[in-house]
Amino acid sequence: MARLVKFEATGPIKIEPQDKPIFVCACGISRKFPFCDGSHKSCKGEDPESTYRYDPDTGEAVRID
Ligand code: FES
Repeated sequence: MARLVKFEATGPIKIEPQDKPIFVCACGISRKFPFCDGSHKSCKGEDPESTYRYDPDTGEAVRID
């Protein structure tokens, strides 16, 4: 249950203090990164011993090992 995620940013993203909780993506496949957009639901069926790559356009998982 690992994911390969491609990052292209070269600096941080500033998150200003909010009045309500914000959810930061920890799975790496959010289309609204760094914020969670619910895409993590696609990770539920992952095999713990495998590594996956997610297509950024379709959101489909590709098992790579
Ligand atoms: S934790 Fe990554 S989309 Fe929710």
